[in-house]
Amino acid sequence: MLRFLSSRFPTEKLNFDCLVNEKQVPIHKMTWGYYTGGLVLFFFVVQVITGLLLLLYYQATVSDAYVSVKTIMDNVEGGALIRNMHIWSSSLMIFFALVHLLTTFSMKAFAPPREITWIAGVCLLFITFVFGFTGYLLPWNQLSVNATKVLLQSIDQVGAMLPVQLAQIPEFVKQLLQGGDVIGQATLSRFFALHVVVLPALLLGILTIHLLSVQLHGMSQGVDVPASKSEKFFPVAVSRDIQLWSIALLILYVLAQCLPFDAFISFPLLAPYDPFGATPVGIKPEWYFYFIYYPLELLPFWLVLVILAVVSAVLFLTPWIFQKTSRRILSAIAIMAAGYLLVISIFGQSIYNFFRGGQG
Ligand code: HEM
Repeated sequence: MLRFLSSRFPTEKLNFDCLVNEKQVPIHKMTWGYYTGGLVLFFFVVQVITGLLLLLYYQATVSDAYVSVKTIMDNVEGGALIRNMHIWSSSLMIFFALVHLLTTFSMKAFAPPREITWIAGVCLLFITFVFGFTGYLLPWNQLSVNATKVLLQSIDQVGAMLPVQLAQIPEFVKQLLQGGDVIGQATLSRFFALHVVVLPALLLGILTIHLLSVQLHGMSQGVDVPASKSEKFFPVAVSRDIQLWSIALLILYVLAQCLPFDAFISFPLLAPYDPFGATPVGIKPEWYFYFIYYPLELLPFWLVLVILAVVSAVLFLTPWIFQKTSRRILSAIAIMAAGYLLVISIFGQSIYNFFRGGQG
């Protein structure tokens, strides 16, 4: 184990020459793939900065959360822009994390000695999804509380399918998240703590491992025939990263300024949560959960759960399962996965209507 770890973290390379002077980026048809991780990093930094600004006014209590978000939107100078940037950037971070996963997969960047880089990456992706899930509840409106209720109820369904000894695990997770018999102040406090303390700390720790191993091993080869040309990481690739980030910032600013994210959902900030009010008809999670939401609506619950468990296991074990697979086959798998994600995210509702005879 120690030998494995020391070969995966060759600390003798922790010096200026290896990390800066000698680091090269291969030039080939997939070179663009090396910039996808940097974009995810950029949107994460935006999340931290805009999130800290939102914290200046946001109140995590059931009586004030909704009003504080409304105040940010209507009365705080630049508040609507910052909130829109935070929401747009969360979607873009998840989008590019998925693109980054699929490109590093098809470039076989998980092959030895980069197994830990890959596994840390999978953990980062899961954490990013939990960020989305916990952030959704914070405005404490009719939509967000009811959608969270539905999600917490599905944890009960998981418990109901497991043998008695194991059924306690989902029950424990639900209690840990909900903090009481019903969704309320304890739930909001816990989601808030997760969203602003626990997850950022976890993400930063794992990101350090991810980036350190990327730096120590340099860029992977990326294609089958080793590239004959390369360029220096500092300053060439880094300056390209900065150019890309500047364009991303401009696009994000224009989007947040002109197109409030809420405009895309049929329930904008809506009304504050009313425990006696009706659950809004047709509530749906954010688009980045459609890949699991629509299968849950259309297929038996146990089947979706088994598929999810298998996909998660395959993701974690990718460096070993696909050790001998060619890059052509990896690219074909990545294209199929991207196709599924695109189709379900864009046409999920139409597919649902088709199979359910237009009831949705
Ligand atoms: C918060 C999420 C993430 C951030 C901020 C991030 C950041 C980065 C950065 C900056 C790089 C170096 C540039 C590049 O090669 O693109 C990188 C490389 C890498 N990332 Fe990520 N990443 C994240 C998630 C993931 C995920 C979900 C995976 C896949 C499961 C992954 C797998 C890899 C691999 C294998 C490399 C090495 C690429 C190579 O050497 O060619 N990362 N990441």
